Amino acid sequence: MVSETVQDGLKAIDELLHEVVTSNVTILDEASHHIISSGGKRVRPQLVLLSYLAAGGQELEEVVPLAAAVELIHTATLVHDDINDHSLMRRGKITVHARWGRTFALLAGDYLFAKVYEMLAPYGALYNQIIAQATVELVEGETLQAAAAKAGQMDRETYKRIIDLKTASLFRAAATTGGFLAGADDDMVNALDTYSRNLGQVFQIVDDVLDIIGDPEKLGKPVGADVVQGMGVSGVALAGRRVAPEPDVDPVQQMMGRLRESGAAELALAEASELAERARAALHDLPASPARDGLEALIDLVLQRDR
Ligand code: IPE
Ligand code: IPE
Ligand code: MG
Ligand code: MG
Repeated sequence: MVSETVQDGLKAIDELLHEVVTSNVTILDEASHHIISSGGKRVRPQLVLLSYLAAGGQELEEVVPLAAAVELIHTATLVHDDINDHSLMRRGKITVHARWGRTFALLAGDYLFAKVYEMLAPYGALYNQIIAQATVELVEGETLQAAAAKAGQMDRETYKRIIDLKTASLFRAAATTGGFLAGADDDMVNALDTYSRNLGQVFQIVDDVLDIIGDPEKLGKPVGADVVQGMGVSGVALAGRRVAPEPDVDPVQQMMGRLRESGAAELALAEASELAERARAALHDLPASPARDGLEALIDLVLQRDR
């Protein structure tokens, strides 16, 4: 059963994550374990595992460190992203910077990034190059986003570029490295690349929609963060629009109300559905298998998620 194999893999990945972040420096040790044990959906490691299996891979042990490294990159970016977003809750728990302060959150994020080198070294140049490129793009995306939001220039084109860089890049690296490790040929790698790129974009659009209509309890993080900062789907919908303040109404709630009435979330979800169909179509170029079915099921999970 592929789902059992994936569950076994995810368990091994979690064990490895806990093991590698262990440090004699108490703050790094505690902060790292705090964020890792807070849960998280582990979508990216699942993507590595399923891509590996869909491309014919059979040795779970060889792919587990790669998948753990991808999750570590993601985890490091969350720690840093929460500093930038001034966010106080992540994965249902207090954020690292809220608990340990900015300095140690920056360092904890750096520490997690540094651990990625250690874990990827044995895989050799190709894997390191792919992951390095994704990480560079991720930082470029976060930077473009901060710059565009600050300048009040979050148009649709910029938004698409941002989500491709900050989110889809790591999804692509996850799927393609998983495929390569299983010995996938060019057609399979291209299929995984197209699939994961579209899936990553869907993932971020849905995240941005949940920032408008989601439930913070379920999400384990605050909503309305993008509205405040002029980012995401909210940033695009509100760009250049001024909302006259109403007395006795919290301005954030007022903007959230406007956003919900504007249909921006529904529009974004329609776009996400189209991208999801592109991801689905790309899977036809992979041989039929339970793992390929797993990749397909992941599309629906990402599209329909509420957390
Ligand atoms: C949050 O990612 C950051 C985005 C790219 C939207 P996830 O929603 O995958 O976060 P966790 O790992 O499940 O907490
Ligand atoms: C973060 O995007 C994406 C990264 C690549 C770090 P968001 O800022 O939307 O993520 P959340 O909503 O804080 O999880
Ligand atoms: Mg954020
Ligand atoms: Mg978000």
